[in-house]
Amino acid sequence: MRRLPHTRQFQLKILRWFAKHRRDLPWRRTRDPYRILVSEVMLQQTQVERVVTKYQEWLRRFPTVERLAQAPQRQVILAWSGLGYNRRALHLQRAARMVMKEYGGRFPRTKEELMRLPGVGVATAGSLLAFAFGKDVTSLDVNIKRVLHRYFVGSEFPDWKKNDRWLEDLGNMAVPEGKGHDWNQAMMDFGSLVCTARRPLCAICPLQKNCRAYPKILIDVKGKRKGWDRVEPGPSSQPEIPNRIFRGRVIEALRQAPRHSLAIRKLAPMVKKDFNEDDARWFDGIIGGLEKDGFITITKKQDTQIVRLL
Ligand code: ADE
Repeated sequence: MRRLPHTRQFQLKILRWFAKHRRDLPWRRTRDPYRILVSEVMLQQTQVERVVTKYQEWLRRFPTVERLAQAPQRQVILAWSGLGYNRRALHLQRAARMVMKEYGGRFPRTKEELMRLPGVGVATAGSLLAFAFGKDVTSLDVNIKRVLHRYFVGSEFPDWKKNDRWLEDLGNMAVPEGKGHDWNQAMMDFGSLVCTARRPLCAICPLQKNCRAYPKILIDVKGKRKGWDRVEPGPSSQPEIPNRIFRGRVIEALRQAPRHSLAIRKLAPMVKKDFNEDDARWFDGIIGGLEKDGFITITKKQDTQIVRLL
């Protein structure tokens, strides 16, 4: 890809902005790929503020990739409490086990190998390359993609005009030489503090002059603020609550239960108030899904089904 117009301006202004506004976050003080991976996986769907404390707690409990690999799975699920999307905890441990088994405890250093680790997609692989190994590549974090698309291409409404492949090439080209680490942090901060998805602060944006999305983006984001996240609807009586919330409640109830196990009959009303027969089929689906994903086991004792954290 050829360098696009105003790339140099873009780099200078982002870096200048970052020098003033950078956030001091604990995972920015390490180059340890395990620690970076933990932070990136936690940040995939959880707010920075919440991750900060959880990240530190996690590292006290599982300070190395080896310790995480060796821990009983249940301890890992228990430690993930409060972060939501529990599947990420399983992925993280499976990734740790793979690093131990296939790479002798040393993280691989190519995008292709990193992406074979459970829970590591193209964005997390890019973050590992930049943050742990100092490579001049872009992360394809959603904030970064949005900033690139708006500045170099235009508004992402009604739809994105460029695909991930193209944005990745563009992003790689836009990394200032030798600055892969700070650059990606800067782009993430800029995307989450200024060039935000729903309320971009164009009025104070240093990139406004050459931005291809400005000012159309300000009109485009209006009216898009509600109902953006498409989710799998919940039970027919409460379709507005997505199933992932109920899945989370099941895990939370089991975390707190004696021996981390409960009869389904007891569990169901803890997860959904006013649980009744009409919900039974739906709830079976929730439980079956969690079993299939390896979170729980279901055993039968006489007529009672017992659910247990694996
Ligand atoms: N989101 C994903 N990775 C991040 C990071 N390293 N810093 C801040 N937000 C992030």
